Amino acid sequence: MEILHVAAECFPVAKAGGLGDVVGALPKYQNRLGVYAKVVIPMYRTSFLYQEEWELVHEGGQYLHEQFFRYSIIREKSNKLGFDLYLVDINGLLDREKVYGYADDTERFIAFQLAVCDWVFHWQHLPSVIHCHDHHCGLIPFFLTQVNQFRSRLHTIPTVFTVHNAQYQGAFAWDKHALLPPYDPWKWNILDWHGQINPLAAAVKSAWRVTTVSHSYLKELMTQAGGLENLFEYEKGKCVGILNGIDTEIWDPSCDPYLLFHYNKDNLVEGKRKNKEEICKEFGMDSSLPLFSFVGRLVGEKAADLLPVAIQDALLHNPGRANYIVLGSGQHDIEYQLKELRNIAGGFYNCYIGYQEALSHGLYAASDFLLMPSRVEPCGLNQLYALRFGTMPLVRRVGGLIDTVVDVGDAGGYGLCFNEASVWDITYTIRRAIHLYDNNPKEYATYCKQMMELDFSWNKAAANYIQLYQQLK
Ligand code: ADP
Ligand code: GLC
Repeated sequence: MEILHVAAECFPVAKAGGLGDVVGALPKYQNRLGVYAKVVIPMYRTSFLYQEEWELVHEGGQYLHEQFFRYSIIREKSNKLGFDLYLVDINGLLDREKVYGYADDTERFIAFQLAVCDWVFHWQHLPSVIHCHDHHCGLIPFFLTQVNQFRSRLHTIPTVFTVHNAQYQGAFAWDKHALLPPYDPWKWNILDWHGQINPLAAAVKSAWRVTTVSHSYLKELMTQAGGLENLFEYEKGKCVGILNGIDTEIWDPSCDPYLLFHYNKDNLVEGKRKNKEEICKEFGMDSSLPLFSFVGRLVGEKAADLLPVAIQDALLHNPGRANYIVLGSGQHDIEYQLKELRNIAGGFYNCYIGYQEALSHGLYAASDFLLMPSRVEPCGLNQLYALRFGTMPLVRRVGGLIDTVVDVGDAGGYGLCFNEASVWDITYTIRRAIHLYDNNPKEYATYCKQMMELDFSWNKAAANYIQLYQQLK
């Protein structure tokens, strides 16, 4: 069985968030289970491109409205990621430093999807399944079945579409309609949602099966999906929740190359202490105090806007009892407030505004607690990395956080959970954490060991996806 994963991100080539982690790991685990999984993403100007050797496997051309563009497909030669990786090169469109955030993202990702479909059209043996991730490749299931130039050969290929985050839909106005290749005009309504062309909606309507990255998120989508609630309700028969895993080889405190001190569940107290000393030295903090961290995109979805006030409140109500570090980037107003907070935090708070893979690993290892007050969290990987590194997650009960973190007050629990994305709930839960850490250190250490014994690796989810593919005949 041959699976082609199509996405905008793939770690370590290009990553903006959890999507990159998933696409960089799931195919590797699938290959170990005996299928042939490969990945195609756009060719951005990232350092990975220059470090590896590539071979040209295909060249072609397509029209984006009246503009003809040429594309080439290159393959990474060494298979070092555990799967065949293909990149689509389109001069002037995809070859940028960042993955997203350009005024012509609509044009860029339509061109990418056209190139992928045209390339597959030229394969001698067609793939058993095309698995598309998020709206950047949401038009592919529609192209395969409704676009004149592709459907004759490709309409029988089963498609799976995974919703990693329905907040982002890639919608654009109908006046850009001419960017799309000629398709069956009777089927225009597949593309439409509330008067716009909506790639996420088109994918949910056209794909053979739709998956989301946790069970709880699938339930939430029926009532909260950025305007697509009715669609998810209508299509629920073909939707299934499959909880993400993590790459336990990349995220392993016993050999993580980003860590100065390695540890496992038997020496975790000492190992984490040494890592904390290093990070605290770097940020000018007293390492004898418990350390709370936040790692992530500074956007409303993650409730990052609540952090400046919540941390200030926590500092005020628990003076001198804990340190806080934020690593993230996103909305400028939140970045500004987080930077300003340093001036009044008396050395108990610091932040790094930007993206830094090494520091994220360092923080998962060094911290005692990880904050995740998310308003929306389809799965969330940070809490899974925290658990793997023996760091207690403080999470809001939402989406994938419900499915992965159990409160210490409940049977078998190991984390701290709260209900509302509010300053009060965050600061109350920080108080619970400090109380546990200071008054019951043995109990706290037992929870940390218990977390490190949990198995959230990709093995189970990779098998679940394969089972799903097998049903698509
Ligand atoms: P999302 O994909 O919604 O951003 P996830 O929890 O699924 O959230 O995944 C986030 C991923 O991005 C994790 O690997 C996390 O460590 C990483 N990450 C987020 N922000 C940063 C940052 N500023 N620096 C380094 N890594 C980051
Ligand atoms: C999205 C979601 C996040 C999820 C990730 C990987 O970015 O916001 O919750 O973990 O995709 O599926």
